[in-house]
Amino acid sequence: MYFSIYCSKIERMNILNNLFNFRNKVILITGCNGQVGTYLSNLYVSIGSKVYGLDFIGGEKINSKNFHYISCDIRKEKNVKKALQKIFKIEKKIDVIINNAASAVFGNYKKRTDKDIENIFKTNLSSIIYIIKNYSILFEKFKMKKGNILNIGSIYGFLSPDFNIYLKGDRISSEIYGASKASVIQLTKYFAVLLAKKKINVNCISPGGIINKKLQSKRFISKYKKRVPKSRMANATDLSTATLYLTSDKSDYTTGQNIIIDGGLSIK
Ligand SMILES: NC(=O)c1ccc[n+]([C@@H]2O[C@H](COP(=O)([O-])OP(=O)(O)OC[C@H]3O[C@@H](n4cnc5c(N)ncnc54)[C@H](O)[C@@H]3O)[C@@H](O)[C@H]2O)c1
Repeated sequence: MYFSIYCSKIERMNILNNLFNFRNKVILITGCNGQVGTYLSNLYVSIGSKVYGLDFIGGEKINSKNFHYISCDIRKEKNVKKALQKIFKIEKKIDVIINNAASAVFGNYKKRTDKDIENIFKTNLSSIIYIIKNYSILFEKFKMKKGNILNIGSIYGFLSPDFNIYLKGDRISSEIYGASKASVIQLTKYFAVLLAKKKINVNCISPGGIINKKLQSKRFISKYKKRVPKSRMANATDLSTATLYLTSDKSDYTTGQNIIIDGGLSIK
């Protein structure tokens, strides 16, 4: 039998019309009040999704009938369970979960405390396990047919920071943050395999440093840029296409992947 390797006109139209069709999708985004979370929440609302944003500081920042803020400290499983149950009760489904919230600690590892370590691992890792566990249970209870989970990692999950670009006063990425993000990449693979039969895709994106002039010194930004082949730091907007791709129906055959968005920093 002959199969054309070319797309028919109808196939092309279908792809273009439906690629990023998120109308009426229910999206849960953790850390919705942060730099990336705010951007992604607005993005999905603007393309017709209903977004449930979870955060534990800042209150409801996005004013739209399609945005619903839930105050939730994701370090505690009982809070996560309650939030997910609340959304399922209203919507009967969650199409996409974006595990975006994270906590970081900076500075010398010799000053690290148990409290720092516990906080970073609870926020960046345990929360994802709580979310996936409870999502999976509700997914079955509500007889969902397919689901999608996107974890936000970091290049520091597989790469050491270049300590030469941090000078006194800069926020030096810590060993514990990197270790927690390495775990996020591994969890992505683990759950992608485990949940494939349920038709839940699990993927990750690992951004490089995102510019934030309030938090980063001019000197740091300039030193960082020099290391990046694309000669700049990332903007939250650089994450949009990969995020939409990985959370869309069209990426059905892509699971367990980690898309690195770092302007080429990690390939040098
Ligand atoms: N900013 C960067 O340069 C960069 C680079 C690589 C990866 N990332 C990753 O991108 C994601 C978003 O980063 P960002 O820069 O927007 O961070 P951010 O600090 O601006 O936002 C994180 C949000 O998570 C929330 N949060 C933290 N702990 C929480 C908890 N226990 N319960 C509920 N919410 C909690 C915070 O309140 C905050 O609103 C994170 O996973 C981060 O690790 C960021």
